[in-house]
Amino acid sequence: MRRPVIAALLVLAAASSGRAQCPWPRDMADLHGSCVCARPAGAALSVQCQFVDFSRLLGALRAAVPNQELDLLYVTNSTIRSLPSNVFANIPVQNIQFSDCDLEAIAPGAFAGLESRLRNLNLASNGLTDVPTEALQKLKRLELLDLSKNRIEYVADGAFKTLSLQTLKLADNNLTLSGGAFSGLDKSLKNLNLKGTGLRSLPEGVNSLSSLAFLDLAQNSITQLPTAAFAGMGSLTALNLERNLIQVLEPTVFRGVNDTLSSLSLLNNLIADFPTDAMRIMGRLRVLDIGFNLLTELPDNCLKSMTSLTLLALDGNPLATLPEAAFSHLRSTLRGLSLGGRFLTCDCRVRWIAQWIRDADLQVTSRERNPQFCGSPPDFRDRTFYQLNVEGRFGRGS
Ligand SMILES: *[C@@H]1O[C@H](CO)[C@@H](O)[C@H](O)[C@H]1NC(C)=O
Ligand SMILES: *[C@@H]1O[C@H](CO)[C@@H](O)[C@H](O)[C@H]1NC(C)=O
Ligand SMILES: *[C@@H]1O[C@H](CO)[C@@H](O)[C@H](O)[C@H]1NC(C)=O
Repeated sequence: MRRPVIAALLVLAAASSGRAQCPWPRDMADLHGSCVCARPAGAALSVQCQFVDFSRLLGALRAAVPNQELDLLYVTNSTIRSLPSNVFANIPVQNIQFSDCDLEAIAPGAFAGLESRLRNLNLASNGLTDVPTEALQKLKRLELLDLSKNRIEYVADGAFKTLSLQTLKLADNNLTLSGGAFSGLDKSLKNLNLKGTGLRSLPEGVNSLSSLAFLDLAQNSITQLPTAAFAGMGSLTALNLERNLIQVLEPTVFRGVNDTLSSLSLLNNLIADFPTDAMRIMGRLRVLDIGFNLLTELPDNCLKSMTSLTLLALDGNPLATLPEAAFSHLRSTLRGLSLGGRFLTCDCRVRWIAQWIRDADLQVTSRERNPQFCGSPPDFRDRTFYQLNVEGRFGRGS
C-alpha cells in the first residue's frame, strides 16, 4: 500500500522539499539520495528509504537527535539480514516496515525500548523461517503484525500469546499451524490473513477467535469444511474462501455466523450444486461471490432467505439461464449481478435482466471473456446486456 506513496514522495523529494526534513547533516549525500523524510502537520517524522545502507541509516538516526520520535521507519529493497539486540535503542518509532530486505534473523532483544510504543510491524517479503516470538513478546501495544511472504513453515502453540494483535497476516508462507498457534488472540484479533498458506482444512484453533471480523483463507487447498466450522467466530463479517477445492458445503457449515456474515466469497471452487441448504440461514448476507464454479442450474428457492443481497456473482459457471423466480424478491435490493460465459443462452428467459437494468438500475458485469456475456445465439456473443433490446427480438429461441 505504501509503494505508490513512496514513489510519489521520491518525486517530491527530487523537487527538493522532502529532504530538508531528514534529521541528519546535509553532507550525508547517499542517505539523501535513498530516503525521503516528511513531517505531516501535527505528526511525528516519517523516514522512508530504498536501496539504503541500513547501518548507516540507523547511525544517522541515532546521532541526529537522540530520542526524536518517529512515526514511521520504512525500508525497502535494502539488505538488513538481521536485527540484533537493542537495534532501536534511542530510535523511538511507532511503525516499522522492512520489506524486501532479506531479513532472516531477529534477536530476542531486537525491539528493546519499543515495548510501549510499537503499533505496526510489517516484515513482509523477507526470509524469516520462524515467528520471532521472543522478540515480539513484550510489545504490548502491537496491533498489526505482517509476516506475509516469508519462509515460515511452522507456527508453534502460543506464538503470539502475549500480544493483543488486531491484525495478523501470515499469507504466502507454506504453513503448518499448531493447534494453539493463535492462543491468546481470542479477544483481540479482528483480521486474520492465511491466504496461500498451503492449508488443506480449516486450522484448528481459529474457531475460538471470537472477535474475528475478517478471515482470508483464499488460495489454499481446502476441500471440506466441518459442521459449524465458524461457530466460535461470533463477530465474523467477511469470509474469503476463493481459490480452494471445495465441492460441497455442509448444510450447517455457517451455523453461528449467520447473524453477522455479510460478505462471502466462494469464487473459483468446484461447487456443482448451489449450496441452498447452507445458505438458507444467511439472512444478513449482502455480497455473495460464487463465480467460476461448476453450477449448471439455480434452483428457484436458492436465494430465498437472502433478503439483503446487494451483489451476486455467478459469472464463469456453466449456467444456461437464470430463473427470474429466484430473484423476484431482490428487485429492490440487488444492485450488481455478475453473469455470463459461453454457456449462457440469451433468450426470453433472461429478458427480465435487461428489464431490471432499465427499470431497477441493476449493474451487470462479467469477468469472463470471449464471450463475456451471452454464449448464444451466435450474433449476441459480442453484446453486453445493455445492448440487448428489451422489447425487440430478444425473445428469439423461446
Ligand atoms: C526492488 O528492486 C527490484 C530490482 O531492482 C525491483 O524490481 C523492485 O521493483 C523493487 N521494489 C521496490 C518496492 O521498489
Ligand atoms: C509445503 O510443506 C509441505 C510439508 O509441510 C511440503 O510437503 C510441500 O511440498 C510444501 N509446499 C511448497 C509449495 O513448498
Ligand atoms: C440464524 O440462524 C438461526 C437458526 O440457525 C435463525 O433462527 C436466525 O433467524 C438466523 N439469522 C438470520 C439473520 O437469518
